[in-house]
This record gives sequence, C-alpha cells and structure tokens, in this order.
Amino acid sequence: MKPRRWISAGVVAVATAAALNALPATASRPYDPTTQTLAALGQRHGLKIGTAVNATALNDAGDPQYRRLAASEFSSVTAENAMKWESLEPTRGTYDWTAADQLVEFAARNRQAVRGHVLVWHSQLPAWLTSGVADGSISKQELRELLRKHITTVVKRYQGRIWQWDVVNEAVSDPWDTPSTLHYKGFWAQNLGPDYIADAFRWARAADPRALLFYNDYNIEAFGSGNPADDKTQFVYDMAKGLRAQGVPIDGVGSQGHLGTQYGNFDTLQVTAALKRFAGLGLATAFTEVDVRSEMTEAVRAGNSAEINPRLQASAANFSVLMKACLAVRTCLSYTVWGFSDKYSWVPDWFNDPPEGLATIYDENYQPKRAYQELKSDLIFAGPPYVLPRVAPRPHR
Ligand code: G3I
Repeated sequence: MKPRRWISAGVVAVATAAALNALPATASRPYDPTTQTLAALGQRHGLKIGTAVNATALNDAGDPQYRRLAASEFSSVTAENAMKWESLEPTRGTYDWTAADQLVEFAARNRQAVRGHVLVWHSQLPAWLTSGVADGSISKQELRELLRKHITTVVKRYQGRIWQWDVVNEAVSDPWDTPSTLHYKGFWAQNLGPDYIADAFRWARAADPRALLFYNDYNIEAFGSGNPADDKTQFVYDMAKGLRAQGVPIDGVGSQGHLGTQYGNFDTLQVTAALKRFAGLGLATAFTEVDVRSEMTEAVRAGNSAEINPRLQASAANFSVLMKACLAVRTCLSYTVWGFSDKYSWVPDWFNDPPEGLATIYDENYQPKRAYQELKSDLIFAGPPYVLPRVAPRPHR
C-alpha cells in the first residue's frame, strides 16, 4: 500500500475506534474492546444484537438491572409475548396496546431497533378467535378478513417504528409430526390453506412499505438431506423461492436458533452455507431467537461444576457458531437472543420432563456466562476481508 493510503486507512481505523468508545481512547486509557457492550461491538459490523424482552421484567421496579442490561447491551429488541394476537386483542374488537407500546417507547428512548413479533402464528391466538372458528360462528371467509384486519391494524399502528416484522411464524411441520412428510401445519393452513402466507406478506407490505418482512421458523439453521419431505430448511427455502417467484413481498428469513447441548449441533460452515443459500434468493437473514438449553440433571441442580462446566462450554460454542456464520454473510442483519438472563427464560417452563435450563447468556444473577464472552470475542476478532459490513435489502414490492 502507498504511504498515502496507509494514512487514510489509519484515519478510518482511528475514527472507527473512537466512534465505538463513549469516551475516546487516550494514551492512559487505551481502547479496550472487552469492556464494550455487545451492541457497540456489533455496530462495527453493522450487525444489530437483539434480545427478546419480557414485559413483566421490564416493569419490575425491584429489578433495575434487567432494564439496564436490556438498554445497554442490545441494539434491537423483540417483544417476547406483547405483540402476539392474544396479548393485543384479548377481547374481540378491543385492542390493548399497553405492553407493546411500552416496548416500542423503551426502544425509542434507548435508540434501539424493534423486531416486530409476530403477525401470524397458530399459537397464542385469542380464545374468541379459535373458539369462534371451532363452533362455526366465524366462517372461513370472515376469518380471512379478520386476519387482514389484524395485520393491517397492528402494522399501521407501528408504521415506521418496526425494523423487521415476523409476518408469518412456524408455518411448517416437523419430521416428528403426523404425517411425517413436511407440510404446512396449524390453525391457519387448516382453515385458510397455505395461500394465507402470501396474503399476509401482501397485507403487511400494504400497511408499511418500509419495514422488512420476514418468515420466521426453528430448526432451519442448516440444510439436511435436501429432500423437502424431511429437510425443513429445504422446505422453507423452496417456499421462500416460490413466494419470490410469485412477487410476494418477503424480504427475509429468520432462523430462530433454539438449540440444545444434548443434540448433535452444527458447525459454522454448515450454518454459513445455509445463510448464503437464502442470500442467493435475494433474501436477508437473521438469527431471531437464539438460546442453547441443557438438561438439568440432579448433579447440575446440586451445583456440581464437573457437570455444569461442559454444558456452559457447549452452550457457548453453539451461540458462537450462529454468530460467526451470521458475521460471515453480509445479508445476515441481526442476531437476537431469546431473553438474556436465565432469570426469565421460557425454557424451564416448557421443558420440565426432564428439566432443562441454563439456556441464556447471563445467569439468574445477571453474571455473564461463557456464551456472553464468546459472542463478544466473535465480534471483536471478526473483520475484513472475511467479515464485512451488512447489506440491508430494499423492501421488495
Ligand atoms: O397469559 C398468561 C398470563 O395471564 C399468566 O399470568 C401467566 C402465568 O404463567 O401465563 C401467561 O401465559 C404464558 C405466556 O407465555 C406469557 O407469559 C403462557 O402460559 C406461556 O405458554 C407463554 O409462553 C411463551 C411461548 O412462546 C408460547 O408459545 C413464551 O413466554 C415465549 O418465550 C415463547 O416464544 C416463542 C416464540 O414466540 C416463537 N418461537 C418459539 C418461542 C419459544 O417457544
């Protein structure tokens, strides 16, 4: 490199380092990336680091640490439950925006992006809707109209304030479902047929032309056999390709990233390859709900470190695989953890036979775990030429 270029590269490097520090580095206080937050370290790559936010914890006057970490460590937030249909419209025709508004305002105060979660899902629907369909008092035609109205109402309310919407969530079955051949599953496919997916994206786009519109699902971190009958990633890929071919305004695919240390997991290159294939369709990607749970054997619960340490290590390795893959693919826009502390994780409530836990990056007392440190290291040690700043797609029309 010519001396002049060296000088300009140096100027850029110094400017970048200074921008990352709240206070500029000085000779007596050099820049130390290890003291930076995840949000600040992600910023260097244009990568948002997000968390799901628990509305109860956000309101707990006795737990200021929750709000402090949610505000400082993350550059994006997702409502864990507050934007789901049952939360927003518990009684037909009466929306309760309290908790959802509160999160959007929290994000604005802390200059954070918001991932909207979720417009269409078969779970956490209001009872009036599911029972109305079950007893025939809501017809199929009326159901489709209710869905259109719901999407339009919610997206318009937050127009301009949501960065990415999870428009459709978990529409595809799993190999353990019946029939085992992968198919469109759940309430919406059963009642409206799979065309509801294209409709939902079109309605969401009409309500907010600028938000990025995502399909979101679990167990799609890497490709398997390549046969859409049993490879969920392939099924979702084919679905997304089909939607794009029909001109449906889908902008991205969110891979949730709910992993467990007791399973055979993936290596970084497998996950990178999957993200690249989605990029080949002209789609953004994101990790949207990352956590890595472990079986809580009796020894773990008794505090036996010989049992706990390998779990923490394996959990950290899995968090890191997804982060490194995301960093490697410029269209992977954000990396969101599904809650940041074991104090509020959904895992122990859901997996209790056998009990599972230890799924997040901070323990119940907000002590950062190895997973937190590994994520930081990944962000610190990544850079050109292999890791370049993100490229966000323009919303498809
Ligand atoms: O609504 C009741 C509330 O009235 C009551 O006070 C409370 C007492 O426990 O229960 C409340 O409902 C719970 C709700 O979370 C709100 O806390 C439900 O029982 C519980 O099942 C529900 O769990 C949520 C789960 O989605 C439901 O499927 C989890 O918190 C949430 O983390 C989880 O998130 C999903 C994503 O949306 C989609 N991907 C998978 C992910 C994990 O399952």
